Amino acid sequence: MTLRRITILGSGVMGHGIAQVAATAGYDIALRDIEQKFLDKAMEKIEWSLQKMASKGKMTREEAGAALARISPIVDLEEAVRGSQMVIEVVPEIMGLKKKVYAELDRAAAPDVVFASNTSTLPITEIAKTTSRPDKFIGVHFFNPPQLMKLVEIIPGESTSQDVVRMTKDLVESLGKEAVTCRRDVPGFIINRLFIPMVHEACYVMDRTGATKEEVDSAVKFRMGFPMGIFELADFTGMDVIHKATAEMHLRDKKVIRPHPRIAELFDAGNLGQKSGEGFYKYSDDKYERVQLSEELADRCDYTHLAANIVNNAAWLITNGASDESEIERAAVLGLGLKKPLFETARDIGLDKIASELGALASEYGEFYRPDPLLAEK
Ligand SMILES: NC(=O)c1ccc[n+]([C@@H]2O[C@H](COP(=O)([O-])OP(=O)(O)OC[C@H]3O[C@@H](n4cnc5c(N)ncnc54)[C@H](O)[C@@H]3O)[C@@H](O)[C@H]2O)c1
Repeated sequence: MTLRRITILGSGVMGHGIAQVAATAGYDIALRDIEQKFLDKAMEKIEWSLQKMASKGKMTREEAGAALARISPIVDLEEAVRGSQMVIEVVPEIMGLKKKVYAELDRAAAPDVVFASNTSTLPITEIAKTTSRPDKFIGVHFFNPPQLMKLVEIIPGESTSQDVVRMTKDLVESLGKEAVTCRRDVPGFIINRLFIPMVHEACYVMDRTGATKEEVDSAVKFRMGFPMGIFELADFTGMDVIHKATAEMHLRDKKVIRPHPRIAELFDAGNLGQKSGEGFYKYSDDKYERVQLSEELADRCDYTHLAANIVNNAAWLITNGASDESEIERAAVLGLGLKKPLFETARDIGLDKIASELGALASEYGEFYRPDPLLAEK
């Protein structure tokens, strides 16, 4: 099947960005939301963003105009899916809502239309089973903002056909993005499985060692090769996103994550990070001020447990057949901006040391810390 027209369900933060990227790549887009006013706002944002790209010389004014003209904002669901070969669903991350949306969609769309969900944490196989076409259902996880982020995780469900996996990979590549396949539908897929538990672990490291958040962040940036500190990254992502992802991942598997109460506290207090002006750090009104991190501060933090946490999750993904070392490293570069491979950090510390530290933490705090057998083997 040749993919020419795509329906995008949901025109919010992610939906309008995906619509822009796909229209720029030449696809005809039906952008659907539940009210016209949401679509008007989305189209305004897309127009602004395309014009900005044109003014920076990234495309011509004609190309920007043509991309915008390829997007049709439509409220009526049946009209929105007519003639499309694929639907990318980008509605809020609420299981009940997603299932309701898919029930409607399943009735409205022809049987050969492929459904792709942009969910960050919900189980693909479970949502797929609520439709009449689990073989034509796939996870396609874009990162925020879709206009800039190169990585797209592709998550086949248990019944997804190989044709649909190929079609989705081809689509992602045609958008100028890089696809990393998470071969099993595991909680958090690849990036959230590495990132979200580490935010919690960083809070535990502060509790256990007395390190400040600036010291932890400096070690993460200068010793582990992150583009910024883990608390900075959490503030950038948003405590609402992290809190929700934590709850979903923990619901699916208690061993994936050891939630630290600080995240829920920040969320409950409305301290969502940069978007609210305060999270782990405070941000002044309109401009993004970088936190002062340094090599000196990095020296004051023992980051072994942070590296142990993320490498143990990477090992889990390999042991459980969801990914392999090179794909994980590629995803970490593209999705987390890592400048140093994860397993290089681990080898610098020593895999034996990491495994024995994890063993000691497991004896004290429980199974969450149990080292993956792969670490011992390596
Ligand atoms: N925001 C992020 O950083 C991010 C990153 C990656 C993935 N995601 C995932 O993308 C999805 C959407 O997140 P978001 O941040 O764009 O949410 P959002 O709240 O900004 O946008 C969701 C949009 O869906 C619309 N909507 C609700 N019901 C609908 C329906 N029946 N049909 C069509 N549209 C409907 C809403 O009106 C809203 O405009 C979620 O699954 C989320 O987990 C979000």
